[in-house]
Amino acid sequence: MNELSPEDKRWLDAAVRYATPFAGTTADSPAVAAFIVEPLSQTLVTRAVTAKGGRPHAEAQAIEAAGYEAANRTLYVTLEPCSAWGRTPPCVDAIIRSGIMRVVIGSADPRHAGSAALLESAGIETIIADHAPSLALHAGHLLRQTAERPFVTVALALSSDGRIDRSDEAKTSLLGSEARDWIGMLRARSDAILVGAAAANNDPDLTVKLPGLATRTPLRVVLSGASGVDRRMNLIGGFSGYRTAIIAETSVAVDPPVSIETIRVNGKQGRPDLKLALAALSGKGVHNLLVEPGQRLLAALLEADLVDAVALINTLGSLSDAGLLASPDGPIAELLVAAGLVELEQQCLGVDTLVRYGRPSAPV
Ligand SMILES: NC(=O)c1ccc[n+]([C@@H]2O[C@H](COP(=O)([O-])OP(=O)(O)OC[C@H]3O[C@@H](n4cnc5c(N)ncnc54)[C@H](OP(=O)(O)O)[C@@H]3O)[C@@H](O)[C@H]2O)c1
Repeated sequence: MNELSPEDKRWLDAAVRYATPFAGTTADSPAVAAFIVEPLSQTLVTRAVTAKGGRPHAEAQAIEAAGYEAANRTLYVTLEPCSAWGRTPPCVDAIIRSGIMRVVIGSADPRHAGSAALLESAGIETIIADHAPSLALHAGHLLRQTAERPFVTVALALSSDGRIDRSDEAKTSLLGSEARDWIGMLRARSDAILVGAAAANNDPDLTVKLPGLATRTPLRVVLSGASGVDRRMNLIGGFSGYRTAIIAETSVAVDPPVSIETIRVNGKQGRPDLKLALAALSGKGVHNLLVEPGQRLLAALLEADLVDAVALINTLGSLSDAGLLASPDGPIAELLVAAGLVELEQQCLGVDTLVRYGRPSAPV
């Protein structure tokens, strides 16, 4: 039988849940989970997730931990295993040597297309499922292979009157504590956070403040405009110990401290081309990019069709005329729908409400 049973689906669902918190910890490798399961009793023999920094891979760790117990078992893995020598030996070889008799793969991997066929030719029953949660888990990795860019999530805090800013430069966040924690988790599971230079001038603190997770602060990236980046802003000039980079158009002068990496891409009128900027981040191993945009960067990303998901947090506070409208072209929800995004769900975050948008065809 070469079909996904309800048990197969349950194990793949569990593998995705297991891998999800590790997003953002595996550098340029995707966060993959591998479960080895005894098929008759449907019990777990062992499980593993891609190690911190990306290696060893999940399958290799699970097989090593299972030892001789791997023989005649089923391997559930969220992404097609690797079949070529990279910085680790091919997982396909380890699977074949282990005596595993069946492999259920959550999502095909264009980077290792052919791995499933290799397993089949070694006599291992192999299924590649279009398992929606696995596709969502690896959406960033898959986009890097097919579109040379990361999965882009936009997070925006909105006042009750549709505004995102205080012109008096008050640093008070619009968000309640639950929403702040939720954004902290989103940051921790991202590989990089991008802000425009104008927003960076307001000295946002793009760190993860959840207890015990400060080291999960991802790469912080400032998108320079035509006038460069002010060295006095906290993100650039203040010592933080967090990795920070600037993306600037090739002709624009930027003079950051040596600890800040400058990524150069082509563009127009001193602004980096957004597609090239995202391609550069993808080339640096960014699978999941969180953007915390102001009005202009949000409009430019939507215009370029580079937004995969939006987390809109509606807050109770009002900013009245002191604030900047999220969009000068009408209510933000209408703008998102016009850009081809659909509302997926609403969730209470304490006093605030999270509304999630995504692409209708893509799992998010
Ligand atoms: N409530 C929230 O969730 C939230 C989140 C972030 C920011 N904000 C607020 O939003 C305000 C900033 O909004 P904003 O509209 O002035 O600026 P923005 O959207 O933050 O970013 C625009 C900046 O990015 C630069 N940039 C470089 N390439 C670009 C491109 N291809 N397209 C668009 N911009 C590009 C712009 O350069 P040029 O100078 O050359 O145009 C400008 O410096 C801040 O006051 C901040 O506090 C609120």
